[in-house]
Amino acid sequence: MTRPDALPLGATIGILGGGQLGRMSAMAAARLGYRCHIFAPEAECPARQVAAAGTIAAYDDVAALHRFAAAVDVVTYEFENVPAATLAALEGRVPCRPGPRALAICQDRLAEKRFLAEAGVPVGPWRAVHSAEELTSALAEIGLPAVLKTTRLGYDGRGQAVLHRPEDALPAYERLSPKPLILEAFIPFTAEISAIAARGLDGAVACYDAVENQHRHHILDLSFAPARLPEAAARAARENVARVAQALELVGLVALEMFLLPDGGLLGNEIAPRPHNSGHWTMDACACGQFEQHIRAVAGLPLGPVTRHSDAVMRNLVGPEGLAAWPRLVSRGDVVAHWYGKDEAKPGRKLGHANRLLPLGRLQGLDDVTACDGI
Ligand SMILES: Nc1ncnc2c1ncn2[C@@H]1O[C@H](COP(=O)(O)OP(=O)(O)O)[C@@H](O)[C@H]1O
Ligand SMILES: [Mg+2]
Repeated sequence: MTRPDALPLGATIGILGGGQLGRMSAMAAARLGYRCHIFAPEAECPARQVAAAGTIAAYDDVAALHRFAAAVDVVTYEFENVPAATLAALEGRVPCRPGPRALAICQDRLAEKRFLAEAGVPVGPWRAVHSAEELTSALAEIGLPAVLKTTRLGYDGRGQAVLHRPEDALPAYERLSPKPLILEAFIPFTAEISAIAARGLDGAVACYDAVENQHRHHILDLSFAPARLPEAAARAARENVARVAQALELVGLVALEMFLLPDGGLLGNEIAPRPHNSGHWTMDACACGQFEQHIRAVAGLPLGPVTRHSDAVMRNLVGPEGLAAWPRLVSRGDVVAHWYGKDEAKPGRKLGHANRLLPLGRLQGLDDVTACDGI
């Protein structure tokens, strides 16, 4: 039975943001019988192409936000940097899922680090940096190498600098300040791992298998699902993200990025309260993919099965090379290809992704080249 407060068939889900995450959420929503209304500043965007309705307005256009709130039954987001004022304009008029607390924590690397530690997820050493003096004392405590990051609005490696030598510190500080900064110890990880959990309106939590991520030019390139990890580490990764979902008390999805240490331990890096690029493999290798799961949570439906029925390797299709690879990938029988409908193939732009499916259990023991098999 669905909850009495679940959205009825035909209800409208409002999505703030018009990118590919909104697009794939809207496609999943349509399959469950919901309409989507996209609120985004761009006239032409990937999500709007597949949604029933749209508002083209700035995120600080209060009158437009009020009209949007009146036109939809629930609001969700496809990016976590929704301004606090946008949420304030919507709150009290329409349920917002996830709520303001989850967003506030995920928007600020300092709040995020404190939250992770409180939730029982280990994190590496870090210090807040608000001045050149604070950077000097933080470096004395943390040592080199270290990573200096802006606390807000960083993505795909933007807004950060790796410090190798003492003389790297000042130029990095000058480039990134006056924004508030965080200095983190450089973690000598052996792999980058992520896991995604969903939390329903009823508080139920379900976790997808953890995956291993490889980046190219700071942009996610490949996810291997499941991560080729000892079972204890794979379980720890899922437990970590489940703790995060519980402690955030969010309704929706949360992704946790982690570093795998040489001794098999895991450290939390960052969290995103939304569908995540490293979860795209779930669309084709799980009974209920991350976008359907997100919509289920937001709509108050019971969560769907997170069971993995295939192994998968996900490749992001980025920029002109991604565009060039499309005809080949869309023609392969062992690959499910997804295109986002963006108008220009600019370098560094995520244009689509391809999921290579393998029989369950096959990935374990395969080297990367064999696992990718040319995708
Ligand atoms: N403390 C760190 N130690 C080592 N590598 C790091 C550290 N922080 C970030 N990185 C590397 O930089 C990448 C981007 O950093 P991240 O904090 O995930 O920011 P974002 O993904 O928002 O750009 C990570 O995926 C990782 O490869
Ligand atoms: Mg990251």
